[in-house]
Amino acid sequence: MSIYTLAIESSCDETSAAVLRDGRTVLSNVISSQVPIHRKFGGVVPEIASRHHIEQVVPVVDQALEDAGVRLEDIDHIGVTYGPGLVGALLVGVAAAKGLAFAAGKPLIGVNHMEGHIFANFLANPELEPPFLSLVVSGGHTMLVVVKDYETFEVLGQTRDDAAGEAFDKIARVMGYPYPGGPHIDALAAKGNPNAIEFPKALHEKGNLEFSFSGLKSAVLNYLNSAKQKGTPIVDTDVAASFQKAVLDSLVGKTREAARMTGQKVITVAGGVSANQGLQRALAQMCEEEELTFYRPGRILATDNAAMIGCRAYYMAKAGKFSKLTLNAKPSIPL
Ligand code: KG4
Ligand code: ZN
Repeated sequence: MSIYTLAIESSCDETSAAVLRDGRTVLSNVISSQVPIHRKFGGVVPEIASRHHIEQVVPVVDQALEDAGVRLEDIDHIGVTYGPGLVGALLVGVAAAKGLAFAAGKPLIGVNHMEGHIFANFLANPELEPPFLSLVVSGGHTMLVVVKDYETFEVLGQTRDDAAGEAFDKIARVMGYPYPGGPHIDALAAKGNPNAIEFPKALHEKGNLEFSFSGLKSAVLNYLNSAKQKGTPIVDTDVAASFQKAVLDSLVGKTREAARMTGQKVITVAGGVSANQGLQRALAQMCEEEELTFYRPGRILATDNAAMIGCRAYYMAKAGKFSKLTLNAKPSIPL
């Protein structure tokens, strides 16, 4: 008999619901994005996000069930992101999932959003099994994690300050590109010279698996300010390419180092920044050089979506990790 998972994600600016069969087959993955709404503010406005989740969550769940051709009665359990994220946004998904679980008499599973990002790789790559090393890069997190089995994760290192996505968004904003800035920098970088400007690299000594992007961010801002003051022309493509190179050197260099230190032979990348074309190319090349197997989630499953939450919920259900109906939203939880 097949197991059907219904999952809800509302941690930031996408309201999403998905239905999965046996944890790894996505029957539906409906994503209602608020990006155009937040764009005029240059970033996500938490209260506006919560209000849109309130409006969207029921229609999105209905659509996910309809697209999947599965009735609520036939769902085996309901997974929902309970953290980390914006607390008001998380509360909407959590309250909806609790209401559905209570009304339909289904078990509830509170899912860690970052674990969901890692599990997106199981959906995109059917043959993937633990153990593997994962580089998790999103708007709020940057970390290297060893996924030992479906329930055991070891964080090797994370960022001391800004997340990689946050740095992309900030630089893009200062350069005048709309939120979210990552894809704009990515597109500009493809046309620029990555060696045009030398930006500093932090914590790059051997064996250090922590990240830091705030120094790089300041260096780029200083460069832009002083160019403006001096009246020197700013070549956006070169600034983007040089900034992106500094970020990728750090992400890819530390992933290589972590693979050597742990002996892991399989590498995955996860989170919104994993959609970056330059990062994918650089990781693929590094994996070839080191004779490692490389997996990535693809664009839709890389950024926030409920299918990845459903995949994580399925494995948690298998491990008997259910939540009580007192489940609450937690804005910051560790992996
Ligand atoms: O995982 P995600 O959708 O949400 C969080 O959990 O944070 O990640 C969003 C982040 C944003 O910072 C966005 O700019 C970045 O992912 N991003 C990218 C690209 N696409 C999305 N960054 C660099 N290059 C991209 N192509
Ligand atoms: Zn995310």
